[in-house]
Amino acid sequence: MRVLVIHGPNLNLLGERQPEIYGSQTLGEINEFIRTSAADLGVDIECAQYNGEGEIIDAIHAARESFDAIVINPGAYSHYSYAIADAIAAVPIPVVEAHLSNIASREAHRRISVTAAACTGSVSGFGANSYILALRAALKIQGK
Ligand code: DQA
Repeated sequence: MRVLVIHGPNLNLLGERQPEIYGSQTLGEINEFIRTSAADLGVDIECAQYNGEGEIIDAIHAARESFDAIVINPGAYSHYSYAIADAIAAVPIPVVEAHLSNIASREAHRRISVTAAACTGSVSGFGANSYILALRAALKIQGK
């Protein structure tokens, strides 16, 4: 089972970016945590981060050729990118959305995720554990 983890815009600044909301772990530390958990689950993982909407769309398209599932945190694009939502809907592999913060309890503009609506499901509010829960969900969807 191969899973692509996509981190969206501004997540490269984790650790220094609003730690009161997103925690003090850097993206590198979170990726290490994801890799360790993935190894325990027997999942082959690749982690990528993009700030650009088009780069995320390209990565989603390409993943359909070589991955069994995608875990994605589209960052702020979650709230308005119909282009990323369309890309998610266009690929045959399951896509699970993950958010560090609980977007349902934040500002009004963050409470809607148009990309989550195109995903199989979403996990929000558990910090870095959201990615692991999303990974487990992807495994379950694929019957692994
Ligand atoms: C986020 C939530 C988004 O609203 C925000 O724009 C982010 C991070 C999260 O993981 O909690 O960049 O996706």
